[in-house]
Amino acid sequence: MGPSTFIKRFLPKSLLGRSLLIIVSPLVLLQLVSALIFYEGHWDTVTLRLARGVAGDIAYVINLMRQYPAPEDREHLFDLAAGSMSIIPGLKEGTVLPNEGSPPSGLTEEMLARALKEHVGLPFRIDTDSVERYVIIDVQLPEGVLEVITPRKRLFSSTSYVFVMWTVGTSLILLGVATIFMRNQVKPIRRLATAADNFGKGREVTAFKPEGAVEVRQAATAFMAMRDRIQRQISQRTDMLTGVSHDLRTPLTRMKLQLAFMRGTDGAAELEADVADMERMLEGYLAFARGEGGEQPQPTNLAELLEEATAQAQRKGGVIDLHTEGELTVPVRPNAFKRCVTNLIDNAIRYASHVSVRAGRRGDAIEITVDDDGPGIPPEKREEVFKPFFRLEESRNPVTGGIGLGLTIARDIVRGHGGDLLLGDSPSGGLRAKLRVPI
Ligand SMILES: Nc1ncnc2c1ncn2[C@@H]1O[C@H](COP(=O)(O)OP(=O)(O)OP(=O)(O)O)[C@@H](O)[C@H]1O
Ligand SMILES: [Mg+2]
Repeated sequence: MGPSTFIKRFLPKSLLGRSLLIIVSPLVLLQLVSALIFYEGHWDTVTLRLARGVAGDIAYVINLMRQYPAPEDREHLFDLAAGSMSIIPGLKEGTVLPNEGSPPSGLTEEMLARALKEHVGLPFRIDTDSVERYVIIDVQLPEGVLEVITPRKRLFSSTSYVFVMWTVGTSLILLGVATIFMRNQVKPIRRLATAADNFGKGREVTAFKPEGAVEVRQAATAFMAMRDRIQRQISQRTDMLTGVSHDLRTPLTRMKLQLAFMRGTDGAAELEADVADMERMLEGYLAFARGEGGEQPQPTNLAELLEEATAQAQRKGGVIDLHTEGELTVPVRPNAFKRCVTNLIDNAIRYASHVSVRAGRRGDAIEITVDDDGPGIPPEKREEVFKPFFRLEESRNPVTGGIGLGLTIARDIVRGHGGDLLLGDSPSGGLRAKLRVPI
């Protein structure tokens, strides 16, 4: 697996996902960079300045204590500091700071330690945890430990958090808006895909109109034009077929009449058989062409349809067992589809003695198999039998076979539904016809 396929596995597959990624990744990058710069520069500076303010105040108090060592002066001094500098000093005389001190954790403590070193220059200990919303700074003086309590606010700049919250918040809103807009852009593409898919399955696509961005509209319009062209071609083909078959019927009838007068002469019987043959072919073509037109797909229960088809074949004397599983309702042209199945079953009862029909869902398609125990069709002939009027047994004898349109029509119908018809070996020794229609 190459690196590109590796990356592709983690990239979103849908257009919506991809376009959101295109919008979001520069946004996140921009915010990361700006936040990093902000943290690196601005936040450090602000925190250090705040820490220096506190450290400077403490240094000032210590200096004044040195200058006015009398205890009543000290009391006064501490009161003044509490009142105007919002630091509350207190002296614990004769005590000594414990030796072990934990290293500063976090930016605020680090900066405060740095500022205390610069301004006070005496051993100290910072305690940010024991009192909520306050920081306790102990400084070792010769006469004892000076404990200074100061509000966290004096040391802590909350604007940084506000800034981060704002950027994250606004980008989330932006992402939401982008998702809504992108989804609306993707919708017409999805609709176009569904319409094309339905058309491929021979279903109606009337309620489809081009919408969305210009390019999507163009694609939709092109698709509609293509659909119309294909439909025109199909109807042209069937119209021509019907026309030719129809027109040929009249001269054939005339020939039949004339042959009736020539009965008994040399070769007249063969000619009559040929004419009868041609007539059957024409009828076949006409039936084929007629089946194409007009019928609209509608939700059809294939289990019921198969039951009717097998019942009809059983009345004709076929030995058939039918097995269907699950819900088999799909939009198909019911008459055409029934003809397709009937053609397969008719073949099986004509060329074999036991027939088994099975139907069920396989993934996103319905699969119908018709198995028989007859002679089967050799693999190299399995494409040819789909050609019109092709029979394995080449005599045109109606006893040993039909006119050779059954499989042609069957495959045509299945393909018109977006499916396919394949021939193979049946486990019971004969031919297996496998038919798949997409759901
Ligand atoms: N189940 C089968 N077992 C063996 N051979 C078959 C089977 N089905 C079809 N064939 C062969 O394929 C040929 C073509 O079949 P197709 O159904 O197209 O025509 P047909 O059955 O001869 O005529 P019809 O138009 O009346 O169906 C048949 O003539 C036959 O030789
Ligand atoms: Mg047949």
